[in-house]
Parts: sequence; C-alpha cells; structure tokens
Amino acid sequence: MTKSAYRTTTETLSASTIETYRQQGFVHLPSVLTAAEVEEFRAQAQEGEQRLKEKALRYRNPVFTQLVNVWREDEGMRKLTLHSNVAELAEQLAGIPLRLWHDQMLIKQPHISTPTEFHQDQPYWPHANSTHSLTAWIALVDVPVERGCMTFLPETSTQIELVAQDLTDKEDLFRKCPELRWSPRVTIPLRAGDCTFHHARTAHMANANVTDLPRIAHAIIYMDATTTYTKQPHIVTDPLQLEEGKLITGELFPTVASMRTR
Ligand code: NI
Repeated sequence: MTKSAYRTTTETLSASTIETYRQQGFVHLPSVLTAAEVEEFRAQAQEGEQRLKEKALRYRNPVFTQLVNVWREDEGMRKLTLHSNVAELAEQLAGIPLRLWHDQMLIKQPHISTPTEFHQDQPYWPHANSTHSLTAWIALVDVPVERGCMTFLPETSTQIELVAQDLTDKEDLFRKCPELRWSPRVTIPLRAGDCTFHHARTAHMANANVTDLPRIAHAIIYMDATTTYTKQPHIVTDPLQLEEGKLITGELFPTVASMRTR
C-alpha cells in the first residue's frame, strides 16, 4: 500500500497504539479521512463559516471562530461529525460504548488569533457517571506548530479533582496543579486529514496561528454512553430542560453504534 492510500481504521489500529492512548491520554492517528474527504470537508467548512456564524451556537471569542453543533445546521458538516470511521476509532480507543456530546468547528484566522491556554475539557461539562469521554480533533488543513497545533501533558487524565481552567491564562492550570509545570510537553503537528484523540481530562493547549493561512480544525466530542446530567450551565444543554441525574440522551446525542455503516 502506498503511503497516500494509507488510512487509519479500526482494522489498522494496533493494540500498542490503543495502549499508548490509554497510558498517555492522547494519540496521533494519521489519515483518518481520505484526501478526497479532506478536500470536501475543508471546502464546506470555509464556505459555511460565515453562514454558520449566524446560525450555530457559538462561544463569544473575537479572534477565534468556535462554533458548536454545526452538524445540526449544515449537511456537509453533519457527514463529518457523524463520520463512522472517526466514531468507531473513538470507541475502540475508549473501550466502552460512546455517544456524541457535541462538535466544534475551530477556525483560527491568520495572525489575529491567540493561544488557547492549558486546560482540561471535562470540568466545563454538565456530566456525571462518565468513566471516559474523548475528543477527536481533525485537521482540515496542514497544521504545523506555527498554525496552532496542540500540545498535551501526558498522563494527566488521572487528575480528577481540578476545576475549570481559564483558557486565556497560561498560568491557571499550573496554579491549580503546580507539579504539572514540570510535566513533559508533547506537541503534535498534524497533516490535513490527521487526527489527535485526547481524553477529556488530558491537559492540552493550542498555539496561536502565526502563518498566512487559516487553521481549520473540526473537533468531535464523544461521551460515555452512560453519562448523566448535572445541571451545570452549558451552551448545548441549557435550552434542553434535561432532568438532573438522568441520562443525557435524545437526537442531539446519537450513539456511536447508530453511526456504524457496516
Ligand atoms: Ni480543549
């Protein structure tokens, strides 16, 4: 098989790669999308950005487009968020049944962006009874260090007591957990179509984009299928009137099993 035809699937994912993910709390998987898919989804993300800015849920951030649940507003992005290869890889890495939590279209425009400082994802979520949630962060353009790829702190998914960190303050995580200042840092540049998966408690950050091209990434976040609702405020669940202590379920949160094509 030539390199360009290689694709990471549940058939090619090795036991040692799964083991690396579970130990470190993150892993780099090359080519989870085909070159044709990358081109299709990148064109849709670029074409849809302005339109989705008006329709999709979003975090207020003047220098960074962070749109939430774009799969509900755009047929093309729906195909990516519900992509069976990415979803099945997530479930194989986690080793438990998962469902979609939400997606995020993450576009950092050239030169005007800022870093997204070290944080864990899980403290922001209204989740209980979740043993394992994880994010697939898919590069739709080449993302070298200078364009805003991610940096991870290995083996931080065991840090279960931390409260949400300030994404704009590069010291915040280290004030809350001083020994992490001495952790090794692993920075992973991605080619278009590559993906990193990271555990919801793995500390990570993303650089600013200091290149001349936009950094276009799509994050798909999966949660333990048994996750229940805590009532903590969150942009996705606030309008839904879910009941505290009940499963987070319904059409916004399809199971990975329902995304399988085979
Ligand atoms: Ni994050």
